[in-house]
Amino acid sequence: MWRTRSCARRLETGSVCISPTYNELEIDEFTMISGATYHLQRQYGLSPVLACHEAGIFVRGSTRKDRHSHDDRLQAEEKITMKLHKLASPLGSEILDIDLSRPIDDATFRQIDDAFSERSVLVFRDQVMTPAQHVEFSRRFGGLEIHVLKQYLLADFPEILLISNVVENGKPVGIADAGQQWHTDLSYVEIPSRCSILYAKQIPEPGPDKTYGDTCFVSTAAAYDALDPEMQKYLGTLKARHSYLKRPHVRAKLSEEQKKQVPEVIHPVIRTHPVTGRKCIYVNESFTTEIVGLGKEESDALILQLCEHCQSEQFMYRHKWRVGDVLMWDNCSTQHLAVADYGPEQARLMNRTTVRGTAVF
Ligand code: SIN
Repeated sequence: MWRTRSCARRLETGSVCISPTYNELEIDEFTMISGATYHLQRQYGLSPVLACHEAGIFVRGSTRKDRHSHDDRLQAEEKITMKLHKLASPLGSEILDIDLSRPIDDATFRQIDDAFSERSVLVFRDQVMTPAQHVEFSRRFGGLEIHVLKQYLLADFPEILLISNVVENGKPVGIADAGQQWHTDLSYVEIPSRCSILYAKQIPEPGPDKTYGDTCFVSTAAAYDALDPEMQKYLGTLKARHSYLKRPHVRAKLSEEQKKQVPEVIHPVIRTHPVTGRKCIYVNESFTTEIVGLGKEESDALILQLCEHCQSEQFMYRHKWRVGDVLMWDNCSTQHLAVADYGPEQARLMNRTTVRGTAVF
């Protein structure tokens, strides 16, 4: 953890300031966690989003070097005037009139980032991006994860995980059944993902009054808010175990070596969003195996109760895909489910990047 004075000095000079967790990584966005929120907000005029809650802050931005290279690339560009509107559900905003394949100036990026913190899911329509552009846009939000299932990573772009039922030369090109149970990406690792960015390349042909392969999202922050205060207090004292190997069909895909790379981890049942400070239920059907300290029956019953509560329609947005949609979601304040209602003859191909997050608290 940086102490107050060094955070402040580093911010002031615009030099790279990253959490010790990321020291070894070459990332062009910086992430900083510190207890110095109030001080930074008061003394350096940071917005509450940047210098958030007293429990710790999560500051993102680009290094001076990156800002200059962005500025150079933007010299001949028009400023972006995008349109942003909230979807009629407790989460999600649609962003129109932005081309993610082109450089995005810092002010526009901040608007996107703020909208993302507020709404948890962003939908960008009509995009045409190369893998390099997808990776570049994703890196503005943080360093990128490389998924343990290496066989489904895009050649030359290991940051891109293919999610697909397409089979080429007798081999599946991607994970065919990814996300078909409610989950939040990478809750099974110590430092789970901040967000994921999914780009629709092929989707099943819609019928006259039905789309196929939709993705549903729920707000785990709204689900927490709806709990009664006694329950909130009780859950706040609990921790849960998460494991990528919970489901037998997932275990079957992994080699012994890959299994060793995903040891189980323990997280609080209620986690605090690092930017907004909202409390979120952090238990999901795919990866949460046990509530620590409870007997099996009680633990299973509580996991089920929390999952059913989160999955309620009142907290949900259902995305009906169009080719060219880019969707990003927050892996702290949401859970999602890919609806498996299409057959092998209906090709669905998605490219996903997964952005690294910060320690859970
Ligand atoms: C995922 O869980 O990352 C996949 C979501 C989807 O394919 O809709």
